[in-house]
Amino acid sequence: MKEIFERRSIRKYTSSPVSNSDIENLLRAAMSAPSGYNQRLWEFIIIKDKNIMSAITEIHPYSQMLKEAPLAIVVCGNLEKEKHADDWSSYWDQDCAAATENILIEAQYLGLGAVWISAYPRKDVVDGLKKLLKLPIKVIPLSMISIGHPAEKKETPDRYDKQKIHINKW
Ligand SMILES: Cc1cc2nc3c(=O)[nH]c(=O)nc-3n(C[C@H](O)[C@H](O)[C@H](O)COP(=O)(O)O)c2cc1C
Repeated sequence: MKEIFERRSIRKYTSSPVSNSDIENLLRAAMSAPSGYNQRLWEFIIIKDKNIMSAITEIHPYSQMLKEAPLAIVVCGNLEKEKHADDWSSYWDQDCAAATENILIEAQYLGLGAVWISAYPRKDVVDGLKKLLKLPIKVIPLSMISIGHPAEKKETPDRYDKQKIHINKW
């Protein structure tokens, strides 16, 4: 699938906004991701407000591209809805990572540029985002995705590495 092979992190954007139909497609892609026990513990915060974008750049040193981005989506896990909370098998972070990757691939398909910005497990970033975005106690930001119309082009290196593959045993 060419969108997977051609996707790169895009951190420079034109000033054009991302359309509402594109935003809906990004969210539909996110919510089509697989999830542990099919619990879909994700929640999504759509950010277009420049003041909030700017405040995030104060919290996270590697999020400066948000100053130019017309859109960010913060992907959060909602542990309030976790039915296996006492179990060892809470998969909220993996659910949210799968949703994040789906957004990146859908963005590539739509001709948009995007980059995954870390949140969890960086405590300073998680705490800063929780305060800024008024997240409930049991809602944890896993990632942010900065999205816009691309103003940079990147090569697509071949990262296939046979040495990473182990047949049957290490
Ligand atoms: C878990 C994770 C966290 C990341 N955090 C950041 C980040 O905070 N800031 C950033 O600019 N890029 C971040 N990235 C993007 C990586 O730097 C990027 O995916 C990597 O360098 C490979 O480049 P590519 O995406 O263009 O293929 C993150 C990617 C992942 C998967």
